[in-house]
Amino acid sequence: MHEQYGGVVPELASRAHMEHIIPVVEEALRVANCKLQDLNAIAFTQAPGLIGSLLVGTQFAKSLSLSLNIPLIAVHHMQAHVLANLIGDEKPAFPFLCLTVSGGHTQIVLCESPSQMKVLGETIDDAAGEAFDKTAKLLGLPYPGGPLIDKYAQLGNAERFRFPEPQIPELNFSFSGLKTSILYFLKNAGSSLVYKEEFLATDAEQKQFIEENLHDICASVQQRIVSILLNKLKKASKQTGIRNICLAGGVSANSGLRKAFLEMGRKQQWNTFIPAFEYCTDNAAMIAITGYYKYLDKNFATLNAVPSARAEWGSQ
Ligand code: KG4
Ligand code: ZN
Repeated sequence: MHEQYGGVVPELASRAHMEHIIPVVEEALRVANCKLQDLNAIAFTQAPGLIGSLLVGTQFAKSLSLSLNIPLIAVHHMQAHVLANLIGDEKPAFPFLCLTVSGGHTQIVLCESPSQMKVLGETIDDAAGEAFDKTAKLLGLPYPGGPLIDKYAQLGNAERFRFPEPQIPELNFSFSGLKTSILYFLKNAGSSLVYKEEFLATDAEQKQFIEENLHDICASVQQRIVSILLNKLKKASKQTGIRNICLAGGVSANSGLRKAFLEMGRKQQWNTFIPAFEYCTDNAAMIAITGYYKYLDKNFATLNAVPSARAEWGSQ
């Protein structure tokens, strides 16, 4: 639905939520083989996200908890991405570090318990997923481009083109400089990473350059995004002395990142964890596992709970 617009259209997303929320819940209950009466609590995503979609989920969850007379649990989306690592049988011991990389966020989180988390570093501009999606857009690929870059990167030579690694202090990230250098690189059909008064290539030459080099461009860009992420993660592990290290978020579905992460883990003698593929990109199981831990803590929301588009971590 959003593909034709090259990105998510918020109003269409909230209308689709209205349309689909009841059939989706019915289908989930059917697949899980349970009835509404079997449920112990209703967990919902409170923040961050697109406000229209969050409002639909929040009001639906409130209504359901009220009518079933069971507790309501408000979940923070980024906390849920981190706790997706606790879904399987092999769970990280606390404390652990988690590199959470999604379409909207890029964070290194110190997790001391399911409810105690601290963001040690985050992006000062674009998220890693945005770097993938915006690169894909420059290459003329459909939205969301991350999975396509991953696919083409597997066929290309990552050493072919060298994109710069930004020097950002502490444990923070930046991806906007990389995006700009890719833009100039393409506008100049590969002959320069920096802006020239006049771009060196015509539109037709740019198009041809992309067509002929798509796999190598994707592999080189992906390698740089991965090295930016993992170098900071290595630094965070050195600074904290923590060796239980997890990945989370949509970008952790990226095969290049998964491979390089496991390789770094072997070299650095980390205990590494990556959620199963289906728990990396946005999913309801990660909201449920967070709801489960909040349920054990009796950390319930009231009917006054309001959703928020913003990412601040309150009293999770
Ligand atoms: O966590 P997520 O599903 O949604 C947000 O909370 O944002 O992450 C979506 C992001 C998108 O930017 C998408 O392009 C990226 O994850 N993504 C990937 C891959 N699969 C999803 N990026 C690179 N390689 C992939 N295989
Ligand atoms: Zn997400």
